[in-house]
Amino acid sequence: MMSEKITNVNDVTRENWILSTFPEWGQWLNEEIENTTVPENNFTMWWLGNTGLWIKTHENTNIVCDLWCGSGKRTHGDGKMRAGHQMMRMSGVNNVQQNLRISPFVIDPFKMKNVDALVVTHTHSDHLDINTAAAVLKQGGKDVKFIGPAEVVKMWIKWGVPADQTITVKPGDEVQVKSVKIKAFQAYDRTELVTAPVGETLKGKMPQDMDPLAVNYLFETSGGNIYHAGDSHYSNYFAKDGNENKIDVALGAYGENPRGIQDKVTSVDILRMAEDLKTKVMIPVHYDVWSNFQADPKEIVELWKMKKDRLDYKFQPFIWQVGGKYTYPQDVGKIEYHYPRGFEDVFTKEPDLPFPSLL
Ligand SMILES: [Fe+2]
Repeated sequence: MMSEKITNVNDVTRENWILSTFPEWGQWLNEEIENTTVPENNFTMWWLGNTGLWIKTHENTNIVCDLWCGSGKRTHGDGKMRAGHQMMRMSGVNNVQQNLRISPFVIDPFKMKNVDALVVTHTHSDHLDINTAAAVLKQGGKDVKFIGPAEVVKMWIKWGVPADQTITVKPGDEVQVKSVKIKAFQAYDRTELVTAPVGETLKGKMPQDMDPLAVNYLFETSGGNIYHAGDSHYSNYFAKDGNENKIDVALGAYGENPRGIQDKVTSVDILRMAEDLKTKVMIPVHYDVWSNFQADPKEIVELWKMKKDRLDYKFQPFIWQVGGKYTYPQDVGKIEYHYPRGFEDVFTKEPDLPFPSLL
């Protein structure tokens, strides 16, 4: 139900402004997802921002992966980074960075319906989020599953998610969620390996084990398979994953790294990743969300055009937009997404103009 429109300045408060404006898309996308019927031998997915993904199958299985319902910096604070932060460990910095969230909120998590499982790749807060966990639990009750590596599951349980609804996965594990088989793979997210509690020193120690912290996933559906690489950096092992699995669509965490930083996959390595995985469609994600890691994905398309004939690429890139829909294989051939432009019904009724040639 629409709330009544406020028409007097004295009735406007900060709180009702926030509630009437946020999330920016209201429940538009919730409605679209619910009303979408996925054709046989296809799957449909929506980009929820960052590496967040909603996968819907022909059988009406609904998987939400890595939905982040939080924000980045909201204040300058004291101008210093939190001691022991992974980016501080990586690069020896002290000063706070302007990592503001720039993607809109395209979905209302508390209006989500029919989610069968929340699947999370790793422990970082732009992927593992208490708001998402709460919303998924509220809509799904006892039937919804929470799937992630050990440290992700530990955090969910700490937040109050019933332990018997969680499933801990490590590379090699498979979980069936209705019509979807979810396979866990090793992750290649070296930023995770320098993530440690405040006060802990990593210098001179053996690196942490990746498997409890982060995994990649393959979602096998009746319409094709999606490889979700979380925040993985480039790895030679993508070629092994590609050899051993049929991958139709792959998502990689793309972004322009600030000077002295190695965190996101750049355009050249997104192309290498696609070639290694033997995917048919390669989709960059994550570059939408942080103000200091923005990148232009057209760079991927331009490099792909330059190299595809000589290197005999068997894949194509797809440049998406947050909140956009992609159906595989129906949308194969599309290189760039545009939101539905509407106005399909032009001139289905008489225009109301002073005279016909005015416009
Ligand atoms: Fe991330």
